[in-house]
Amino acid sequence: MKHHCIWAALASSSSLVAHGFSSPYHPASVDGAGTCLSLCQHQQAPEDDGGSVDDLVKGRRNFLSSLVALSSSTFVLSPPVAIADGEGSTSLTPTVIATPTGDLKKLFREGQALEAQGNILAAQRIYTKATKIAPRFIYAWANLANTLVAQGDLSNADEAYTTAISLCEQNLSEVEPSFGTKRCDDLYLLLLNRGSVRLNNGKPSEGLADLSKSNDLRGRPDSVILENLARAQEINSYYGLADRNYSTAISMTANEVAPFWLRSSMVKFQQGDLTGAFDLARRVENRFPEAPEVRACYACLLLAKGDEDAARRKYLEIPDRPRLKYSDREYVDRVITWPPAMKETLAQLTKAVGDTN
Ligand SMILES: *[C@@H]1O[C@H](CO)[C@@H](O)[C@H](O)[C@H]1NC(C)=O
Ligand SMILES: *[C@@H]1O[C@H](CO)[C@@H](O)[C@H](O)[C@H]1NC(C)=O
Repeated sequence: MKHHCIWAALASSSSLVAHGFSSPYHPASVDGAGTCLSLCQHQQAPEDDGGSVDDLVKGRRNFLSSLVALSSSTFVLSPPVAIADGEGSTSLTPTVIATPTGDLKKLFREGQALEAQGNILAAQRIYTKATKIAPRFIYAWANLANTLVAQGDLSNADEAYTTAISLCEQNLSEVEPSFGTKRCDDLYLLLLNRGSVRLNNGKPSEGLADLSKSNDLRGRPDSVILENLARAQEINSYYGLADRNYSTAISMTANEVAPFWLRSSMVKFQQGDLTGAFDLARRVENRFPEAPEVRACYACLLLAKGDEDAARRKYLEIPDRPRLKYSDREYVDRVITWPPAMKETLAQLTKAVGDTN
């Protein structure tokens, strides 16, 4: 199922992703080029063809469908540049590597193949080795980071993305923008991935900063960035911005109801737009009728509309064990992090059904 994506991988080690709906990790969606873009976008092997990208995407739908290939074009590795240094002396500047060649390329491909098979640990070992052999190879760090995310090791993933980001920035500072010149153009993607990791790793304001920058660099509306940016705005209590960015993201993918629509619905409710909230929640409910969080949210909105009987019935459709989690403040505050207005309504509802007093 498409919506498992990265959550499945994170679930084993991160309490944040007990379920998909409130995870800031959002499912993959397809951009204009037909490339699946999402959190932890896989940095594509330079020179890979589109066909293999598709295979990669299909091959791991069930596991890490959001760790997907980015067709970031084909790079050409330039040789180290000799630059003038002061009084006529010269020194070699180690060049940032965007495209591997020779043994490094073979190694990198091996890592990608393992990743495609779902053998994340083995892929991680290969990428680690690549970072040792070529510490200035951007994609060794980027892909290492992706495998760390897949294992829930978010702090080390953050560090590895940070290395990739500074290499990419260094490349951008060294290569003048001019027609036909290749520069590191994946900065927005690296920032998207790091920002999403930070959001999940107790660094909401840093996550927001990365995602805002990613959005600016992208220079055009990108639904995956927007839904993650909106989530970051929401977590940082900028509900108005979150509402608008969620709406834009939804309008770009209007035909396919996605779990993040539920967050958008809750933000609308927070903003006082009960009708808008209800419309969205109803569509999510249609698509994912059995998900506990969907039922809980929908029930709260029914209560807010004044239909207490329907609200109670809906709420009690949730089996006891998952339902009782919604009576646990810690869970609501820290795991699913519902907005304040939703939390208030939920508290009334848990009382009304007798789960709390
Ligand atoms: C910068 O990156 C581009 C591709 O991303 C690469 O072709 C170029 O060689 C790199 N240049 C430097 C100076 O790092
Ligand atoms: C999305 O968020 C950005 C802030 O990062 C804001 O400037 C922009 O106006 C928002 N988009 C919409 C459509 O509101």
